[in-house]
Amino acid sequence: MNYNPLTEEIVKELESILGSKNVILDKEKMENYSHDETPEEYAHMPDVVITPTTAEQIAEVMKLANKHLIPVTPRGAGSGLSGGAIPTFGGILLSIEKMNKVLEIDYDNMMIVVEPGLVTNEINGLVEDKGLFFAGYPMSLLTCYIGGNIAENAGGGKAIKYGVTGQYVMGLEIVTPTGEIVELGGKNVKDVTGYDIKKLMIGSEGTLGVITKAIIKLSPKPKFATDLLVLFKDVESAIKIVPTIISEGGIVPTSIEFMDKLSVHTTCDYLNEHLPYQKAGSMLLIEVDGTNESVVELDAETIGELCLENGAIEVYVADNFTTQERVWSVRRNIAEAFMVYSPEQSLEDIVVPIGNIAKLMPEIEKISKKYDIKMPSYGHAGDGNLHTTLVKNPDTTMEEWFDIENKALKELYDAVYKLGGKLSGEHGIGLKRMKFMKDHLSETELMLMKKIKQAFDPNYIMNPGKIIE
Ligand code: LAC
Ligand code: ZN
Repeated sequence: MNYNPLTEEIVKELESILGSKNVILDKEKMENYSHDETPEEYAHMPDVVITPTTAEQIAEVMKLANKHLIPVTPRGAGSGLSGGAIPTFGGILLSIEKMNKVLEIDYDNMMIVVEPGLVTNEINGLVEDKGLFFAGYPMSLLTCYIGGNIAENAGGGKAIKYGVTGQYVMGLEIVTPTGEIVELGGKNVKDVTGYDIKKLMIGSEGTLGVITKAIIKLSPKPKFATDLLVLFKDVESAIKIVPTIISEGGIVPTSIEFMDKLSVHTTCDYLNEHLPYQKAGSMLLIEVDGTNESVVELDAETIGELCLENGAIEVYVADNFTTQERVWSVRRNIAEAFMVYSPEQSLEDIVVPIGNIAKLMPEIEKISKKYDIKMPSYGHAGDGNLHTTLVKNPDTTMEEWFDIENKALKELYDAVYKLGGKLSGEHGIGLKRMKFMKDHLSETELMLMKKIKQAFDPNYIMNPGKIIE
């Protein structure tokens, strides 16, 4: 694609739409907006950063960008893991950081109406007094924005029971790539009025429009929760217990999070945490929650017994807030700990049907041996969604690493697809996985995706360089 450069005239027009304080040209300030949580090599500087405060302003910006063929990349908190918010072709970086208002809390309908730049966890703080919560649980909920979660259809640590972000999005207001403001969905529980464009927006990674408002469904907050930290001697026995808990135990836990030895050690070192992990080859963090304390206790007991009957070395119970926060903090900080340990890595979020996770593990082992790289795995075992991470061997050069990364990823994805899996369970395709799409999606599916993109964005200015080429 050939885009036009940002001229002084266009900057002036942006300033007149947004006010000059919402137009940033300072290189040092713009640097923050050139990357997300993916490695440095994916970063790209924008030509200008804008911080609009209304949908009307965004609509005007989109019209201007179409007229002059300038790419526009929307951005939430920048906690993404596939490069979705990186302005790969420069142009305008549209940060939603100033659109962070709560517009309405509707207790009768159990919904909250928010702007996209609200930090996701703030929703919980606002409604917990009324016994409600937002049941999507992205792992970065303390920092990420709800708009970014919707754009990525973020999953997380409680998806096995509560599902992912998209399930809780009732309605959206968006600005289309051509600058129209549209309301999609609403507060109706049922709605089959034509194609579900709202669902198409959810997970479209900022390529089909800018989310400017969201109606989010709230759920009754479970009153009791117990976490079990279960130590297993090896990876296989931990993974194999997942379907057993659900089918034999008859319990759908809130979470079944898996951490291999390397993940646990790296993160506990990073956090200076002294949990009893030393003798474990792998760990599961299993949570059960509910409204009845004795049922929650019984479920936890049943799961603990099943684990012990199936190869667990030890089961620790965390039934108070402080211990629960400690174990969850280890789990939440794994990605960050690895980033500090080795920024040259590829954090994946492959997904396979849960019954096939155990079959995937030896394949990962093979790839790791073949390329002599560390491949720690952790993640949402209850969803078959694993954060297998390829970590650069310090003895290889960057050039060798890029080659190894490419080949190892290809083999990993091939193994995943053979087991009925997919490239990405929650982080998205973005910039990072775009080149692998054609290996695994049929021509027809890719063609339909391209046509959808064209229908929304005829000039291909909305977050170009993401998802499909
Ligand atoms: C997590 C992020 C990496 O589960 O998705 O920690
Ligand atoms: Zn995850």
